[in-house]
Amino acid sequence: MVRRQTRTLALVALGLIVLVAAGCGKTKSARPPAQGKQPSPRASALATFNSNDCGQCHIFAPAKSTGTIGPNLNKLKAAARADGIPLGQFVYQAVTDPNTYVAPGYQAGVMPADYLSAIPPGKLTQLVTFLVMHTH
Ligand code: HEC
Repeated sequence: MVRRQTRTLALVALGLIVLVAAGCGKTKSARPPAQGKQPSPRASALATFNSNDCGQCHIFAPAKSTGTIGPNLNKLKAAARADGIPLGQFVYQAVTDPNTYVAPGYQAGVMPADYLSAIPPGKLTQLVTFLVMHTH
């Protein structure tokens, strides 16, 4: 009787191990391959935009955001021109170092100044490129 119970327990334990192993296998195969199935640059840029609350403060058409605490991001070309620097550089600087150039009519110290460290470099480049490509 005792031996039988031990055997049953051993079988249950074995069953659990098999189940866990099968589960792991599933998780692995469900994971996308390293290349080919990554989100598009657009999806990735929008995810960065949304997860960093840019839309809480800014209007930006591709993100359908309506925040009005900061300037309208659909119109950055005029802002870059007024500042006298190329659009890409203007946007990069505005995002990573917002207090160096403060948009007319707005205050310094409102936009978070830590995006350079908070957003990984690749995602930051994608976000800036996306803004440059979709603003007017
Ligand atoms: C808490 C509100 C807030 C958040 C969040 C925020 N911003 Fe801003 N942003 C502002 C304000 C206010 C200004 C204007 C003052 C200044 O230039 O620093 C501004 C300025 C800018 C400018 C310059 C616009 C111009 O016309 O000069 C850009 C570009 C910009 N933000 C992009 C972003 C992006 C991209 C994010 C997210 C990664 C973001 N902002 C998050 C408030 C915010």
